[in-house]
Amino acid sequence: FAARQASQSVFGAVQRRTFSATASNATKVAVLGAAGGIGQPLSLLLKLNPRVTELALYDIKGAPGVAADISHINTKSTVKGYEPSGAGIKECLTGAEIVLIPAGVPRKPGMTRDDLFNTNASIVRDLAKAAADACPEANILVIANPVNSTVPITAEVFKSKGVYNPKRLFGVTTLDVVRASRFISQLKSTDPATENITVVGGHSGATIVPLLSQAGYTLEGAERDEYIKRVQFGGDEVVQAKGGAGSATLSMAMAGARFAESLLKAAQGQSGVVEPTYGQSGVVEPTYVDSPLYKDQGVTYFASQVELGPNGVEKIHPVGDMSEFEQGLLDVCLKDLKSNIEKGEKWVKENM
Ligand code: NAD
Ligand code: LMR
Repeated sequence: FAARQASQSVFGAVQRRTFSATASNATKVAVLGAAGGIGQPLSLLLKLNPRVTELALYDIKGAPGVAADISHINTKSTVKGYEPSGAGIKECLTGAEIVLIPAGVPRKPGMTRDDLFNTNASIVRDLAKAAADACPEANILVIANPVNSTVPITAEVFKSKGVYNPKRLFGVTTLDVVRASRFISQLKSTDPATENITVVGGHSGATIVPLLSQAGYTLEGAERDEYIKRVQFGGDEVVQAKGGAGSATLSMAMAGARFAESLLKAAQGQSGVVEPTYGQSGVVEPTYVDSPLYKDQGVTYFASQVELGPNGVEKIHPVGDMSEFEQGLLDVCLKDLKSNIEKGEKWVKENM
């Protein structure tokens, strides 16, 4: 039964080997910001996932309504909504194995993700504090932008409470790979579900670096430039199209649900589960099998392909070969990324 489920995964995560896990493990998943544009469809997809047995939905407003609605879906998991009053976030988070954080303000046309920093940094900091207290061993999946900075902020909060485990902190960059795969399939008339373009770096503009050459593709001239621009600024395409009503929500919900599903598969015993994610680079404890990536250049967080296991990150893959053109993109990425990371770390140290 479990093997059949795995092969039918709609999310297209990389699967290299078979597994022998059951789908019967008790797994509580919490969504913080569950009543929002991402939170609602993400919660819906998690309700449809048989690996999730308990769904805990928190928002500053509206989560009990979303929970009541979703709870009528005829899958086995239980669903409960939480607000700041009453049992609140502590009960929502207690016992959670996975915590997804889409809470925060989205962009409007003309804004960069960094323009969200002032509002979202404190939202993520406070939610990270609550998670560090209530479920210090959970996998924390940060969706709120700017991801390049909100992930280091989360790390510093967990460090300040003495419970930081870099193997369990993930900046969700899945949407970049989803887009890169979809867009190349449109150019090459291939099946997007079988494309898996490596995208490294971070999650904003020039820090998003697709490595098409690793999938055996070569684009030239205007076609290449348009492809790169579309992957790097795919988020802007949606922000423009929504005309002030927010940013990507539905595709992001799918991407977040795919990442959560991959973590659950790995936790339940499947090996060879590989996903892109933005996390800490470099060996941080003796048992941490890792690639140092660009740590020696001061870039301490970086998105790359990561193998997941029962303890979170099992192995961070090296970035691998790239063309001279891609190397140029990466050089630009590293500069921006370094300053995004430093900004998050500096802010949280001054505003803990
Ligand atoms: P939204 O405004 O529709 O929803 C955000 C939700 O967060 C709201 O329901 C709000 O009430 C809630 N919220 C605000 N402060 C909170 C707090 N302190 N505790 C709990 N809930 C709180 O926004 P959205 O479209 O869902 O986007 C959410 C975030 O995700 C944005 O920052 C956006 O930029 C980001 N995003 C990231 C990616 C990615 O690839 N990582 C993709 C799309 C969007
Ligand atoms: C995206 O990539 O769609 C998100 O980061 C939202 C945004 O602001 O573009």
